[in-house]
Amino acid sequence: MDHHDTPKPARARRSDALSGVARVPGDKSISHRSFMFGGLAAGETRITGLLEGEDVLRTGEAMKAMGAAIARNNGEWIIRGVGNGCLLEPAAPLDFGNAGTGSRLTMGLVGTYDMETTFIGDASLSKRPMGRVLDPLREMGVQVVKAAPGDRMPLTLRGPKHAAPITYRVPMASAQVKSAVLLAGLNTPGITTVVEPVMTRDHTEKMLKGFGANIEVETDREGVRHIRIEGQGRLTGQTIAVPGDPSSAGFPLVAALLVPGSDVTIENVLMNPTRTGLLLTLQEMGGDIEVLNARSAGGEDVADLRVRASELKGVTVPPGRAPSMIDEYPVLAVAAAFAEGETLMQGLEELRVKESDRLAAVARGLEANGVDCTEGSDWLSVRGRPDGRRLGGGTVATHLDHRIAMSFLVMGLASEKPVAIDDSAMIATSFPEFMDLMTGLGAQID
Ligand code: S3P
Repeated sequence: MDHHDTPKPARARRSDALSGVARVPGDKSISHRSFMFGGLAAGETRITGLLEGEDVLRTGEAMKAMGAAIARNNGEWIIRGVGNGCLLEPAAPLDFGNAGTGSRLTMGLVGTYDMETTFIGDASLSKRPMGRVLDPLREMGVQVVKAAPGDRMPLTLRGPKHAAPITYRVPMASAQVKSAVLLAGLNTPGITTVVEPVMTRDHTEKMLKGFGANIEVETDREGVRHIRIEGQGRLTGQTIAVPGDPSSAGFPLVAALLVPGSDVTIENVLMNPTRTGLLLTLQEMGGDIEVLNARSAGGEDVADLRVRASELKGVTVPPGRAPSMIDEYPVLAVAAAFAEGETLMQGLEELRVKESDRLAAVARGLEANGVDCTEGSDWLSVRGRPDGRRLGGGTVATHLDHRIAMSFLVMGLASEKPVAIDDSAMIATSFPEFMDLMTGLGAQID
């Protein structure tokens, strides 16, 4: 599907108080991994709460193309996996659409197989750097048979007869790179080690352990994580309940903080500490967000979040917090546009290589809507206007980026003038229910 062929513009207008109780779709990171690990593990995996967004469905298609059986029955997904080491050579290129996580993790998963696999994607994905995953795979003996200039997709991998286990220190804070190496290690004899100086989301480690992998994590005195996985072990199908995606929850959460009089509860949100940076930051800004019914479900922390409209103040967000809120900066920048004073966000270099150059896309979108902001090489500062006066009135270029689209629709709900986006089609990659959920709470979006 080529979204850029059929752009769907949308517009959000200043809304009356938002209210209600909502559930956001399942976590995208856990949903991708559920399909991958379920498709790989021997026996049956049953998944409820899966995010049925386009990105995740592409991962499901890829696993089917490599031998897994995947079916949906009454909202539950049932997978019969092939068994670790037993993926089949796909007959056609694997098309990952817009999905960085799906494509990069799958490169790790299949790269060490003695077969040829070709990866293709949309215009956004084809611009994103894949060298960060290909470099460690090359060290393990994987051949990059073909790639577009700069190690980009479309690209073709061929694995060696026997891959070599490596110790790899991840050079940037990236859960995708960490995960790709660990997944490559699953089909490699011996112990593959990933050294992670800055902790990123740990879903791969936790879930692989649940599927029966021999994986250990040790954190040294400097706080550096050493993750060791033994290859060629048995993985067994699991039952998984995917909790709500905290990255998706960020949109109704910020909307409710910004629209005066709002009172919204979002239920069943994943509260894994590697994912809660936005929540912490909004609370520091003065956001009235109550964490209710904190509980453990399926090995993860979850809770309900009650959020009421609040007067926000600008804060400095330290670089060390970036990994725990890396996908949330666009919507945080929108919150900052309505906060008293300046918000400074630091350590944003990874935003340049997301679905779009998010640092530039956010800065241009804010400027188009009258917000005073400064874009640095790896930082952004935003000077807010609490009453939203004179904000809005612009059209935002979304660059095939779902989170840019949703963030600026949230902005329009509290701005004096409407905010338009050039294309809302990409929202379906991660949050197909976004429009219905938001309008159900009272948001004026059309
Ligand atoms: C993800 C890791 C992050 C994040 C992405 C999902 C994952 O990417 O931005 O949306 O599921 O592992 P990076 O590894 O590039 O930081």
